[in-house]
Amino acid sequence: MTTTPQAPLADASGNADALLRPHAEQAFAHELAALAALDDRPRPPAWLLSPGAVVTYLLGGTLGDGTVITPKYVGPRRLVEVAVATLATDRALLLLGVPGTAKTWVSEHLTAAVSGRSTLLVQGTSGTGEDAIRYGWNYARLLAEGPTPAALVPSPVMTAMREAKIARIEELTRIPSDVQDALITVLSEKSLPVPELGTEVQAAKGFNVIATANDRDRGVNELSSALRRRFNTVVLPLPATEQEEVDIVTRRVAQLGAALELPPVPAAAEEIRRVVTVFRELRSGRTLDGRTTLKQPSGTLSTAEAISVVTQGLALAAHFGDGTLQPSDIAAGIVGSVVKDPVADRAVWFEYLEAVAREREGWHEFYAACREVSG
Ligand SMILES: Nc1ncnc2c1ncn2[C@@H]1O[C@H](COP(=O)(O)OP(=O)(O)OP(=O)(O)O)[C@@H](O)[C@H]1O
Ligand SMILES: [Mg+2]
Repeated sequence: MTTTPQAPLADASGNADALLRPHAEQAFAHELAALAALDDRPRPPAWLLSPGAVVTYLLGGTLGDGTVITPKYVGPRRLVEVAVATLATDRALLLLGVPGTAKTWVSEHLTAAVSGRSTLLVQGTSGTGEDAIRYGWNYARLLAEGPTPAALVPSPVMTAMREAKIARIEELTRIPSDVQDALITVLSEKSLPVPELGTEVQAAKGFNVIATANDRDRGVNELSSALRRRFNTVVLPLPATEQEEVDIVTRRVAQLGAALELPPVPAAAEEIRRVVTVFRELRSGRTLDGRTTLKQPSGTLSTAEAISVVTQGLALAAHFGDGTLQPSDIAAGIVGSVVKDPVADRAVWFEYLEAVAREREGWHEFYAACREVSG
């Protein structure tokens, strides 16, 4: 079987600007190129960057030539170092955490930085079959020619093995256990047998796997201990402080607003802080000052949802409002995030509105807007 040399850093379309959502290696091609140009530390086989440069790509920094690397992930440095170091070993990386803790985001950026390609991706669902992890067949050719190399359709994992890339497996624990086990040979033998052709694909140096899994999912399939042993697990935490979460939301909202070409809406800081405050208080079941205990809603109220609420608010403000983000622009989004269950969550939400929002200084307009959309 052939191996292809390293793929170019970006950009099949030639114009990442026109894409609704460019891949990480397209959106940050200039940062990756600058990091590679100045990187004089040793690189593991087939890596485009040294582990140190990969960490800088994720956490941000300023390079020797003045190039600014924007932070992609906000969180403990040690955790990112452990994740990157794992990828340089023979163990695979499992990113674990509650919803919205940037597991998918980190996985995309890690693969972009290490392999220049974040798209060798298996999306795990309860319907994922072995062929998504191993290989399938082009049935027209299979019928016409029988099993030949040309009739074989490689999975993203097989392609990554051949091309010395990192494969991504999203939501590993949603994949049925027997299908998950197809990964054991890949991860322990670094080989994928193809009995129909009497051959195998052996992984090139540089191959590895990043899987993500949600530790809050109901009805998930446990990882077998045989598989778990082949992963190093890194748990991504919720943002430690309110300020950190405000920073994450502010940064991502600005990036998304630019990508969507929303008209610029200034002075969003106050509303962003309010969304984060509401989310953190309901998530933790008490007010930030610790004085009032609150009931918790059924949803997870993740940072990712806070980002969506503010982005939606910006679209409302830009297109239907006065061009500044107002409490009424975020009220509907917040209510939608909190009230997932129409009975239980509604009660939780009204309690929060009456016991907390109503009395709080500077929150009157927000309280009124929420009352209006909460019916
Ligand atoms: N600590 C963080 N640093 C930077 N961005 C973050 C952080 N936490 C969340 N985000 C943002 O949240 C958004 C959603 O993250 P992502 O989809 O990767 O979450 P996830 O953990 O995969 O969630 P799920 O379990 O629902 O799949 C991304 O836009 C990401 O930028
Ligand atoms: Mg995810």
